[in-house]
Amino acid sequence: MSATIGESLSTATERLRGAGSETPRLDAEVLLGWAVGADRTVIVAHRDAPVGADAAARFEDAVSRRAAGEPVAYIRGIKEFHGLAFGVDPRALIPRPETEALVDAAIAEVMRRLAARPGEAGAGDGRGGDPVRVADIGTGSGAIAVALAVALRDRHVAMGRNVTILATDASEEALDLARENAVGHAAADGMRFVAADLLPPVLPDDGAPLDVVLANLPYVRSDAIAGLPIAASFEPRAALDGGADGLDVIRGLLGRLPEILAPDGVALLEIGADQGESAPAAVTATLPDWTATVTPDLAGLPRVLRVARG
Ligand SMILES: C[S@@+](CC[C@H](N)C(=O)[O-])C[C@H]1O[C@@H](n2cnc3c(N)ncnc32)[C@H](O)[C@@H]1O
Repeated sequence: MSATIGESLSTATERLRGAGSETPRLDAEVLLGWAVGADRTVIVAHRDAPVGADAAARFEDAVSRRAAGEPVAYIRGIKEFHGLAFGVDPRALIPRPETEALVDAAIAEVMRRLAARPGEAGAGDGRGGDPVRVADIGTGSGAIAVALAVALRDRHVAMGRNVTILATDASEEALDLARENAVGHAAADGMRFVAADLLPPVLPDDGAPLDVVLANLPYVRSDAIAGLPIAASFEPRAALDGGADGLDVIRGLLGRLPEILAPDGVALLEIGADQGESAPAAVTATLPDWTATVTPDLAGLPRVLRVARG
């Protein structure tokens, strides 16, 4: 007779605990839900139901992978981010919950700019003139760009006409995944995907400057990479490694801002919780006449660095 959900969970939880998982019970519940094709809440509510043979084999394989350190999101192939399901695999970083703060800041910034523009009827409905030009630098899975595009679409913004989003990454593989996620969410209208070291030499639309630059670039110090949880070793190193002080790639983008940002443009950059002082200092050193402000995330930790002229 096949094991019940409750028995399977207990066995897997103990195995994952022994393997060093910090969340063994949660991991087991999520993976068993994935294996049987049901939501985790169903798993929790039906402890006495039997696990079928096929699901048991899938679960066994998934628990083995997790015990070897692989992140749950890569095993399931899905990660929830900003209320959306993103396809994820080792081509790109798994989007983190703290990055949702950057998406929320971006939505507010774009909507404010649309509202401030004279509309076709002069009503400030943002429908007249050039689109608001946004870029997501180091888009990875496309999490920020796609979540923003979906949120704007939900607010009846005409993507392409009112807002364009340029998504770049140095990794062609990551860009493929980002495209897949954009198409999967029917959010590719008005989006462009370009492989580039930060930005292409000439911006789209004949080099028209950007209004809003978004970026969650690698910001982990090189010497801290080895100390990250083992799950991070399954992610691309180029998505994590920010050089000696974690700010190398961010500094590179700061240096490009004067040339790519419209006069009233703004850059919103995710930073590490320990970079609340060093990141603004990097702005002052690279762009002495610009301003840098840091907004905390929901946990009260420094998270979004806002950079603008003057
Ligand atoms: C921390 S990950 C963030 C991915 C995604 N934006 C997110 O928030 O989940 C950083 C991304 O930046 C990309 N990247 C690193 N250096 C880059 C560079 N010089 N130019 C463009 N992309 C870069 C990496 O390939 C990776 O996809």
